[in-house]
Amino acid sequence: MSHASRPGVPSYRVAAGGCVRGEVVVPGDKSVSHRAVLLGAIAEGTTEVEGFLESEDCLATLNAMRAMGVAVERPSPGRVVVDGVGLRGLRAPAAPLDMGNAGTAMRLSMGLLAGQSFGATLTGDESLSRRPMERAAAPLRLMGARIDTTEGHPPVVVHGGATLRGIDYELRVPSAQVKSAILLAGLYAEGRTTVTEHAVTRDHTERMLRAFGVPVESRAGRVSLEGGARLAATHLRVPGDISSAAFFLVAGAIAGEGPFLVRDVGMNPTRTGVLEILRLMGADLRILNPRTAGDEPVADIEVHARELRGIEVPRELVPLAIDEFPVLFVAAACARGTTIVTGAEELRVKESDRIATMAAGLRALGVEATPLADGMRITGGRLGGGRVQSHGDHRIAMAFAVAALRAHDELLIEDVANVATSFPGFAALARGAGLAIDEVR
Ligand code: S3P
Repeated sequence: MSHASRPGVPSYRVAAGGCVRGEVVVPGDKSVSHRAVLLGAIAEGTTEVEGFLESEDCLATLNAMRAMGVAVERPSPGRVVVDGVGLRGLRAPAAPLDMGNAGTAMRLSMGLLAGQSFGATLTGDESLSRRPMERAAAPLRLMGARIDTTEGHPPVVVHGGATLRGIDYELRVPSAQVKSAILLAGLYAEGRTTVTEHAVTRDHTERMLRAFGVPVESRAGRVSLEGGARLAATHLRVPGDISSAAFFLVAGAIAGEGPFLVRDVGMNPTRTGVLEILRLMGADLRILNPRTAGDEPVADIEVHARELRGIEVPRELVPLAIDEFPVLFVAAACARGTTIVTGAEELRVKESDRIATMAAGLRALGVEATPLADGMRITGGRLGGGRVQSHGDHRIAMAFAVAALRAHDELLIEDVANVATSFPGFAALARGAGLAIDEVR
């Protein structure tokens, strides 16, 4: 990919140094928001969702449900009302379903579509079109689904009219999206569907299915459900996204002035690896006011700046923090000593190859960063400034914006439009907290 700025594509210009202070409230959780409209769509009755993340990714799922005949209203910011059509009520879409940049939208929809009487085609943007889809297609085929990928990638065609049967499947990659696709197809299958995972991945689908009244059993890494269960509409509250909070937690840890508070953060234990990793690095994080929002735990997190130290990140924490590595790599670049991450090959197939993209960006700033096949070795030190390419990856763009707090020169972070896929309003929120960040074209 070219390193020249593309005309009309926005960049962030972030002044070097500064600090963050006060408090922020991050937007709703992306994973939970996708699932809320998906499950609301196939429930019986009207599901109300509060705190829905109005980002491009989640709107792709919402629009896909509308295209299949589901009435979805957005009466006010963050509120979504889904008029469920029941397990068998979806209708054939008139055109391919465009999932944009959203891997979750595509893979979960593959599972949902596998058991429909009609067929549909799923497409995505340039980044999504490079991402692996066989990991979801293969187990769905074992259930009887008829699915074609394009040499393993989107466009994906799910042919309708298949009769699905339950399977007992062992996940080959630690992926909540694949687990969820199988469970969604399992709703349409004869008999029992079981997924075994060797590494714990986020369990929002399991929790939310239960909230819709579906009995889901989870025991010792095995999740299972019986086909044919009906979903009863419910009221859902979406917690703040810990993956979005992570940018501010690291900002506070490396450049906080006084206590810096990140409010209403989702604390689902399958998502809190970032907190454990930062604590191992010496970060001072205080969990305040723990409570629940619907079916998910929530808390406020107060962070105090501290010198961080390099660590070897325990491999079992990797899937629990998988989306936070871009900003954890920034924390490592600001830490004393060397940080080693291994067992994180999944980072290579995210919105960009996050190992390659982060290593290139950190090196451009003068940091000693060595990409490994399945992770990275980073030795903390001086961060310079200059141009960094995000390769259209939202989390890379935001991670480098945070890095500017410890840089010695201005950063120009290129190709940041996709921040809107997960964190609309990031630049304004970061500016309010103290980052000298501007979006420029
Ligand atoms: C997600 C699962 C993870 C994560 C993604 C959201 C989900 O992907 O990276 O941002 O909502 O299920 P994988 O399932 O590919 O690990």
